[in-house]
Amino acid sequence: MGFCDDVKAAAEQIAAAQEVTIISHIDADGIACEAILSQAVSRLEIPVKSVFVRQLEPLTMPQVPADSSLKVFADLGAGQQNLMRDRGFTDKEILIIDHHVSQPVEGCQYTQVNCLPYGFTRMSAAGVSYLVSKELDSANTDLAMLAVIGNVGDMMAREKCGLVGPARDIIVEDGARHGSVEVRKKDLNCYGTSTRPLHLSLAYNDDPFIKGITNNPEGARQFLKRLGIRQQAPDGRWYVWEEIPVEDKRTVISALAEQLMANGEKLDRLLAETYGFPLETPRTPLRNAQEYATVLNACGRWSKPQVGGAILRGDRGQAYRDAEHMLTNHRSIIRDLLQFIIDTGVKELENLQWLHVGGRYPDTIVGIGAGMALSKLNSSKPILIMCEVPEDRNLTKVSMRTNERVVEKGIDLQQALASASAEYGGGGGGHKIAAGAYIPKTAEQEFVERVNRILGEQFAAACPGHR
Ligand code: C5P
Repeated sequence: MGFCDDVKAAAEQIAAAQEVTIISHIDADGIACEAILSQAVSRLEIPVKSVFVRQLEPLTMPQVPADSSLKVFADLGAGQQNLMRDRGFTDKEILIIDHHVSQPVEGCQYTQVNCLPYGFTRMSAAGVSYLVSKELDSANTDLAMLAVIGNVGDMMAREKCGLVGPARDIIVEDGARHGSVEVRKKDLNCYGTSTRPLHLSLAYNDDPFIKGITNNPEGARQFLKRLGIRQQAPDGRWYVWEEIPVEDKRTVISALAEQLMANGEKLDRLLAETYGFPLETPRTPLRNAQEYATVLNACGRWSKPQVGGAILRGDRGQAYRDAEHMLTNHRSIIRDLLQFIIDTGVKELENLQWLHVGGRYPDTIVGIGAGMALSKLNSSKPILIMCEVPEDRNLTKVSMRTNERVVEKGIDLQQALASASAEYGGGGGGHKIAAGAYIPKTAEQEFVERVNRILGEQFAAACPGHR
């Protein structure tokens, strides 16, 4: 059996269902999965309902209905098959569509379509959901755009400065053919190209880090002025990257390349393949995959994933206004969290740096803050952030982040958190580069030390003798 066979088997199981329940995750990828799958299922005239969960864990498992519907777990489930078994779900009742590490359980053989075991490490669950939907009906290519958002939102385009593998060759191509996705092959590798004033877009970008520009809005503004780039419209509005003339874009990119070279830096992160959405309104966050994904994340992390789903289905009225509001809130809290991490400082152990933020920030966003803080801290050590879980005072949420360079040195945060949390009766998972866990509050101190030791073992196993 190959990946395509698994996709086919998943599509057959859905097509044969009388009724479907989709259980999905509240992040951009999970919200995209739900919008893709529920539309594909309802187009077959099969009744479908959806449930979003923060994580699949004992606390959230009761939200999964015990009815006769086919339960389709999307962007989660591969690592939590034990919970499905404990809940008494039979093989026939379950389909898992995921891209996380699978943890099979004895006595159950749930149907699963997962790109990871086939070596497709840079495709998200929305990508897998799209392939299943296309298998259900080849006319579903209008959903490719949603899969691009899910993939980009889950950072699948980050390491290689663009999507690769089936996410690129099938999904992006389908979206481009459909006309909803515009592929910009050598664009500036920068966030906020549809909404941020040009100089802020440059200043807030730290990948690559450009001396005099990164973290320096005034420096970026002067840099653009020296190049003769028009930064403001006659009415004073700031221009954004997507609307400036192509010659200006070339001028800025060449000057940034010179600046990097002058500082002895590599140019490999300066350009990226980016994905624009020409059918969306210019200068809105729905115009490119990265910013669209942030809108979805804002909805999900503030407990309104259905609002993100409505936007993916085309609602530009109330749902969009609600999302704009959440986005503003999301950005300001993340800025605040980032500042809190920098101001408070982290405690350094040999193989990680960590901080407990208490009950100040929601457990759904601490991971995002941790990721952003990393480039401003010692980025050669993974960061671990803990926080309280408001729904359960006995639990602590843990989020870890690192970067590609550290993963190349042998670090696997998924393995570290899954195994350490299991030792303390908790649960965790995710990816090598970003993972999360829930642990008992009483185990916090020991847990950090345990993870530190596991990371030490990972470093040593990959590169005996030195880091
Ligand atoms: O919550 P956070 O943003 O830190 O999650 C990072 C990654 O770890 C996500 O892919 C999430 O799905 C995964 N995760 C998990 N199990 C948990 C917590 C997070 O698989 N208990």
